[in-house]
Amino acid sequence: MSTVASLVREEDAASVAAPPRDIRIALLGLGQVGSAVAALARTSTHASHRFAVASALVRSPERVRPIDPSTLPLTMDGAAALDTRPDVVVEVLGGLEPARTLVLAALARRIPVVTANKSLLAAHGDELIAAAARTSTPLLHEAAVLAGVPFLGTFSRRPLASDVTALSGIVNGTSNFILSRMAADRAGFRQALLDAQQAGYAEPEPSKDVDGDDATEKLCVLLRHFAGISVAPALIDRTGVGGVEPCDLECASSFGGAIRPIVAAEWESGTPSAFVGPAFVASSHPLSRIDGVQNAISLRTRWSGDVFFSGPGAGPTVTAATVLDDVVEAVRLGGTPPLLRATRTVTSCDVPVTGWFIRLVADDLSDAQRAPATLTRLGVRVRRVSPVVERYGQQRQWVLAGPCTDAHVRAALDVLETTAGCRTRPIRAIE
Ligand code: HSE
Repeated sequence: MSTVASLVREEDAASVAAPPRDIRIALLGLGQVGSAVAALARTSTHASHRFAVASALVRSPERVRPIDPSTLPLTMDGAAALDTRPDVVVEVLGGLEPARTLVLAALARRIPVVTANKSLLAAHGDELIAAAARTSTPLLHEAAVLAGVPFLGTFSRRPLASDVTALSGIVNGTSNFILSRMAADRAGFRQALLDAQQAGYAEPEPSKDVDGDDATEKLCVLLRHFAGISVAPALIDRTGVGGVEPCDLECASSFGGAIRPIVAAEWESGTPSAFVGPAFVASSHPLSRIDGVQNAISLRTRWSGDVFFSGPGAGPTVTAATVLDDVVEAVRLGGTPPLLRATRTVTSCDVPVTGWFIRLVADDLSDAQRAPATLTRLGVRVRRVSPVVERYGQQRQWVLAGPCTDAHVRAALDVLETTAGCRTRPIRAIE
């Protein structure tokens, strides 16, 4: 009779007996992430497989890189990289071309593809997924969103768990790092951004992080994955974190919350509504506790209530580990057809009704109740009002208001600017 112990021993024996499989990778791109993939491929060990970089595609062989390129089979020719007959193509070039052409070429040859490229997926996801489905070839992109948290693949295999009706999250590590540094160390925006770049979190062009473009592309990937909605990034309302002041962060903390770089969307009514940007997050919301380079996502599921994932969202090694796990998964899946969700393309995206955290600035706010009273009279439900503080030679005050539409809050703030000479800056509030 087999006991559990004997079964375990048999399993051990089987894995000892089978030689590790070599997985040959064509690595497209040798920047921060590509170099980390090459380095980790060399050092990571597992009983079942070994990685070998069969070719590494670069644009400029002479460029200084985090890894010594002379130890790798470099090529400047994408077609030649595919001709090495790799088991898996890893695309970490970033950007749209030549990434799109090479991924399509690999899929046409039935070579599984792993990519971390959210720009590519946001812009051409429909075309790439269709090409993968046509040839029953894996196209995995776990590292494109929440790079260090393997959740997309789990949901792809589970159609009931992935019946999601709304989501909110923090998906840009650089922005979260910047706001957290500004709040904790009173660092200036520029210093915090510099630190994020030095740690390898920021995109090569950091305006993609701080202006919300990176987060918007990731939201598009999430919307396709969980809502079956294909939406162009340009249709999503977005605000960058650049306008947040250290005193906003102080006040948010005194209100018991925090300002975080949020993405949120819901599509229960059919038409999606979404926003990307800094938002006041009440302490009752789990995203209020996600700081530094950490990312998180809260999914409202139809059958299992709210589920929450968090972990590191950026960084070369974190991303490389997820990419290489996708490589192993791609080999394991082979020609298994993916579970596909029907996708519809939308040509507009609403903005949701949310609460608001409003900064008021004026030469004289000595009657601390006056501006909040005006907002109340205009139908904006005022929940909290901060004391008036003197900053940068002017008076500042913050108001936390209940849910209302963009149009409503902006019309009320226009009145305030005209009648009370206040300058205002509203950011969304979620709880
Ligand atoms: N620049 C991105 C971020 C990297 O900061 O989140 C991971 O996609």
